[in-house]
Formats: sequence, C-alpha cells, structure tokens
Amino acid sequence: MDALEAIRKRRSVRRYTDRPVDEADLDELLRLALLAPTGGMAQAWSLIVVRDPETRAALADIVMRGGAEYFRVMRPPAPGTTPEEHAEWARGYAQQALGTYPQVPVWVVGLRVPRDLFPADQASLERDADVVSVGFMMENLYVAARAKGLGTVPTVFHWFLEDEFRALLDIPAEVEIPLLTPLGHPEEFPVGLPPALEKIRRPWRTLVHDERWGRPRA
Ligand SMILES: Cc1cc2nc3c(=O)[nH]c(=O)nc-3n(C[C@H](O)[C@H](O)[C@H](O)COP(=O)(O)O)c2cc1C
Repeated sequence: MDALEAIRKRRSVRRYTDRPVDEADLDELLRLALLAPTGGMAQAWSLIVVRDPETRAALADIVMRGGAEYFRVMRPPAPGTTPEEHAEWARGYAQQALGTYPQVPVWVVGLRVPRDLFPADQASLERDADVVSVGFMMENLYVAARAKGLGTVPTVFHWFLEDEFRALLDIPAEVEIPLLTPLGHPEEFPVGLPPALEKIRRPWRTLVHDERWGRPRA
C-alpha cells in the first residue's frame, strides 16, 4: 500500500485481536516514526514500547479507566440520571468501546523530552514546537502501521490518570506524555467513519481559505 492510500485508509481502530506484532515490523515502524520532521532537529521526543504482558495489562486498565472518565466528563448525562448513574454508564461505555484493549499486543507511548534549546523566556514556543513534532512522529507511525495492515488510534485517555500512568512506566516529571497508541491487528479495519462522525465532518472546502482568511475555496 502506498502512502496516499495508507493516509486515505487510516482509521482509528478500537477493537483488536491478540495476534502478536512481528518484531521486524515493529522496528521498522518505530524507525519510520522517528523520521518525522522535528523542529530545529531538536528530537525532543522518545517512544516507549510496551510488550510485557503484565505491564500492558496495567496500561490497558489505566487507559480504559481514563476513557471512562473522559466519557463521564464529555458526554451529557441522560435526563434524570444521578452523577453516580452517569459515571456507571461511562464505565460501561468504556468497557464496551475499548473492551479488547487488555489483549492488545503492543502499546507505543509518544513522549516529549525537553531539550531546553530556546531562551528561557521562549520556553512555551519551544514546547509548542516539540508537541507538534511528537504529533508528526505519531502520525508517521499511524500511517505506516496502516500500510502494514496494523491498527492504531491516537489516545489521550491516560491524561485523566497521569500520575498513575507515569509511575507505571517510570516516566520522569519533566517528560510529557502527549499521546499514545495501541498497536495490533484489528478485528477489522473500519471503512469510513461511523455515521455520527461522518455527519459532522466539515466539507473540506470550508476548511481551506483561498489566499486570505475568510474566502472559502471555490
Ligand atoms: C489529538 C487527538 C486525541 C485523540 N484522543 C483519542 C482518545 O483518547 N481516545 C480515542 O479513542 N480516540 C482518540 N482520538 C481519535 C479521534 O477520535 C479520531 O481521530 C476521530 O474521531 C476521527 O476518526 P479517524 O481517526 O478514524 O479518522 C484522538 C485523536 C486526536 C487527533
């Protein structure tokens, strides 16, 4: 599969089999990820690859509990439900949506490792450049994984349980954890977006301005 097709066909995959990921494929994906552009060649990034069964079980548990917290916060409660009932709904929804995560064979965690190359009073600009670069690195991984028939999904659910996540992988305080992904063989590759998401996809021309802001592309 070429790059254009892999970009078109990449989808967020949330249901996985337990089929292992080939070690040579994994190495290739990691190296492709690290070929992404990096602001100022700072390489203010790292990846943690988690394959150990106990660690990935603990990681999946944190991601699923973080997902439940995300759904609790982001989805409106059904009319008449108590906060406890809504939280219970969110846990059930996370279990249903992410229920195969305990069997995902590999997790890849994208990290921002500050290099402190900018003057101190520009540190927030440096952080922006670093986090954007980590995003590029992960996108390389997602697209390359798709080309190899492997699934991924950008995931930030660990943000809700960051201390626990950090402790699990011994990540020091100065290293940030912008996003991570499961990596494995999908039960099936989603074709297109779910209808509810397709419905809110903005027509591409409305997102492109010709020459100046405010002139949607004809
Ligand atoms: C910055 C970012 C954070 C995301 N966080 C999550 C997440 O925590 N969990 C999840 O299941 N999907 C997450 N997603 C995936 C989006 O929901 C998904 O990309 C979007 O619905 C479009 O679907 P697609 O990836 O199949 O095109 C995230 C995507 C991005 C870009």
